Amino acid sequence: MKTIKKITCIGAGYVGGPTMSVIAQKNPDVQVTVVDLNQARIDAWNDSDLNNLPVYEPGLDAVIAEARGRNLFFSTDVERAIDEADMIFISVNTPTKTYGKGKGQAADLKFIELCARQIAAVAKDDKIVVEKSTLPVRTAEALKSILDNTGNGVNFHILSNPEFLAEGTAVTDLHNPDRVLIGGEDETAIEALVNIYAAWVPRERILTTNLWSSELSKLVANAFLAQRVSSINAISELCEMTGANVDEVARAIGQDSRIGPKFLKASVGFGGSCFQKDILNLVYIARSYNLTAVADYWEQVIILNDHQKTRFAEKIIQTMYNTVNGKHIAFLGWAFKKDTNDTRESAAIYVADHLLDEEANIVVYDPKVSAEQIYKDLDYLGTRTPEENRRLVKVVDNPYGALDGAHAAAVLTEWDEFKTYDWAKIKKGMKKPSFVFDGRKLLDRKELNRLGFAYYAIGE
Ligand code: NAD
Ligand code: UDX
Repeated sequence: MKTIKKITCIGAGYVGGPTMSVIAQKNPDVQVTVVDLNQARIDAWNDSDLNNLPVYEPGLDAVIAEARGRNLFFSTDVERAIDEADMIFISVNTPTKTYGKGKGQAADLKFIELCARQIAAVAKDDKIVVEKSTLPVRTAEALKSILDNTGNGVNFHILSNPEFLAEGTAVTDLHNPDRVLIGGEDETAIEALVNIYAAWVPRERILTTNLWSSELSKLVANAFLAQRVSSINAISELCEMTGANVDEVARAIGQDSRIGPKFLKASVGFGGSCFQKDILNLVYIARSYNLTAVADYWEQVIILNDHQKTRFAEKIIQTMYNTVNGKHIAFLGWAFKKDTNDTRESAAIYVADHLLDEEANIVVYDPKVSAEQIYKDLDYLGTRTPEENRRLVKVVDNPYGALDGAHAAAVLTEWDEFKTYDWAKIKKGMKKPSFVFDGRKLLDRKELNRLGFAYYAIGE
């Protein structure tokens, strides 16, 4: 049996950071080094003030406090970390391609290939290379070819170990995973990684498969989860037409043990760095095998999600007498879900973009997202100049400040604190009629109606 003494993880992002922190926490005898090219990110991981960690996740500060400096290290010295490691996780970003063949659909694997070439160039002894990033099925084949053809004659064993954590609950997901999935060909390498997880995960929850099943399962898991959200969101529109209530429908169907209650919360649309990217990738792979019916089926999940975001923005405009020009709309929330500072693909970005096309004035409050990030998200769309985005959008650090004088409030993220606000006080400060558009079905309709708000929620 091969005992792992040193682990390196390339990529100190939302996955690499929390995952390796927990691996280090639970394996105090293994030295874990997380490396990244981004100096600012590494500095933030090393910051003595745990409020400055680059990733906000409940409970992560305690894990870092326990392991950092003991057997958990963050560094930009990628070469040294590769050289020293027995096992190397690749946890770099694999975004949707923005150029060339597969633009807008395929996964961009340039960062993965750069890692492989660097590992091959540096490694002077045998390494186990673990795919932690989400990758198209059969990427391990390409990785192996790069490693073997550009390396120094040492042996590389490739494993696939996709990550299933969800942001906002990363630490509890990592501490108590439904399953850990390890795909590979070499039994010794598989066993070495199984042993790392077995430090805290019951063996029966550590599944081993062949490489391709493991790679594909990650895309399929995200596709199934996103499909559930699009399914309930499709029904939310029908509920609005028929007098049914989507929460009641979700409860009624979710009690069927074959369907189950989770992931049936209607919303303004799913966001996050994974769902859209991974389904697009699945669609691209299916098309590349000429499986048109399969590709069309999954693509519909994305089409419905885009429709849901547009529909929410249009509902706001239509309800506010078909014009939001010059009107002050307060956005509560910008993150793609609660308990994270991540805004990638957040529905808020697209709803804002739609309203800004109509010359609305948006004032954003999010408890964890910075103004800089919000402007970056809008500028990235390229719909209007950075100056125009700053003219039309203000970001404040006080929710009451965002809502004061507003024509409407729109709930874009389900942060718990929004429920605890003094809505009677807010009502006094808002214009009349005081509209609330709840894209998360978070607030209490009865109470808001009692206070005199004109309240609209998805799926009611
Ligand atoms: P991220 O963008 O937060 O982090 C990736 C990091 O890799 C960045 O800090 C970047 O600087 C670094 N990097 C890129 N190329 C590098 C190189 N050659 N050398 C060193 N560092 C390099 O991304 P993430 O959200 O952590 O996602 C990473 C992977 O995990 C993706 O494939 C994603 O699909 C997958 N994943 C993400 C989640 C999630 O919730 N975010 C969940 C499961 C799986
Ligand atoms: C997802 C997967 O859940 C996780 O297993 C994978 O590793 C990464 O991708 P994440 O994107 O972090 O995790 O969060 P998730 O909780 O899945 O939510 C994704 C989006 O769907 C969010 O915008 C969320 O608000 C939305 N959502 C989720 C709903 O609108 N309704 C639901 O019922 C559930």
